[in-house]
Amino acid sequence: MSVSEQGAPAVPRHIGVIMDGNGRWAAARGYPRIEGHRRGMEALRRAVRAAQDLGVRYLTVYSFSSENWTRPADEVGFLLTLLKRFVRNDLAELHAMGVRVRVIGERASLAPDIRALLDDAETVTAGNDRLDLIVAFNYGGRQEIVAAARRLAEAAARGELDPAAIDCARLAGELDTAGVPDPDLIIRTSGEQRLSNFLLWQAAYAEFVFLPLHWPDFDRAAMEEAIREYARRERRFGGVGAGAPLTARTGS
Ligand code: IPE
Ligand code: IPE
Ligand code: MG
Repeated sequence: MSVSEQGAPAVPRHIGVIMDGNGRWAAARGYPRIEGHRRGMEALRRAVRAAQDLGVRYLTVYSFSSENWTRPADEVGFLLTLLKRFVRNDLAELHAMGVRVRVIGERASLAPDIRALLDDAETVTAGNDRLDLIVAFNYGGRQEIVAAARRLAEAAARGELDPAAIDCARLAGELDTAGVPDPDLIIRTSGEQRLSNFLLWQAAYAEFVFLPLHWPDFDRAAMEEAIREYARRERRFGGVGAGAPLTARTGS
């Protein structure tokens, strides 16, 4: 792996993607919002291929938030259908590519057929290790942290856990992402510059790149652009940086 000037690996090990702007992409073309979601699934396929080609090890994609249930029922229904379609149609190819599929988010309240599909995708691909595709579905960072805190509290109440033993590693180990390194880079499309409840805990030291395009237009070139921007950043993790003057780092 090549190394940038500041010593950070030029290709992030873990990229998180907030796949936003499907609705606006469709509206700008006079299509219904769901056409934007359909085209967004094609962009997801391009993103997975690009990540694998570029040597990314973990790709987490935000496909449905805990708050997205507040959308009109027909749009929510279509997004559920798309998830099923993606797993049914793409699983064999993902498996052949060496992709391990994982799903994070609240699963217990999903319909049994969807739960079964997701469980099956994880089981079938569990032995793959080229790229972990982590699908955040019915996911909310706050909800994830609350669930983790509740499990720790339950263990403490049973007398199995000393509250003084709860530290960052212990809490991180209760999150859906246990065992997955924190994202190095988080990309959001659509121009919005917010997390919208995505990977709140895990993003503590992530670099953010906001791309001025809608998700259905995302492609390999967009991912390369985001990675180039990432490689220009100086990550400090609270320590002391290389001290390069601002102009040297921005290239201006
Ligand atoms: C992202 O696109 C997909 C989901 C949130 C499921 P949006 O549907 O949020 O599109 P915009 O942001 O309304 O354009
Ligand atoms: C975040 O996008 C969720 C996904 C991309 C799945 P939203 O479109 O739901 O976020 P807000 O409402 O603009 O913050
Ligand atoms: Mg949106």
